[in-house]
Amino acid sequence: MERTFVYLKPNTIQRQLIGEVISRFERKGLKIVALKMLKMTMEQAEKLYKEHKGKDFYEPLLKFVTSGPIVAMILEGPRAVEVVRHVIGKTDPLEANSGTIRGEFGVTIRKNIVHASDSPEHAKHEMSIFFDTSEIVDYKLLLEEQF
Ligand code: CMP
Repeated sequence: MERTFVYLKPNTIQRQLIGEVISRFERKGLKIVALKMLKMTMEQAEKLYKEHKGKDFYEPLLKFVTSGPIVAMILEGPRAVEVVRHVIGKTDPLEANSGTIRGEFGVTIRKNIVHASDSPEHAKHEMSIFFDTSEIVDYKLLLEEQF
């Protein structure tokens, strides 16, 4: 089993798409093991996006992600990192397949609905920015037998 970090961006909360987006992950069979709403601090945003520092979209990206509440979560499942990235689609909603979350609900690359870790290593780091280990709940889903 693998865990990955996901958060719904401020425009997703403003558009009242929280349930719609989370249901896509549940329907895929991923297990939510941590979930909360919060306002991302500038310090958290800088840590999360440190590899983009210096790029032209960096400052506007930080301003946007700290502009309003987000919903952060940790999802668990077999190959969760890859599975989640498949479900959300490519970074630019214009390039994302229509059946994906970004393909269906996103318009611009900055407000691309959702973020997900791109590797298990990044997932560990990103989880630690937003969650204390005590906030992660270890439990079984009866449906896990399907895997
Ligand atoms: P995310 O998955 O949160 O990871 C980095 C984010 O930077 C990405 O989604 C986009 O929202 C944003 N991003 C990447 N490339 C660009 C770009 N060319 N212009 C604006 N924003 C970008």
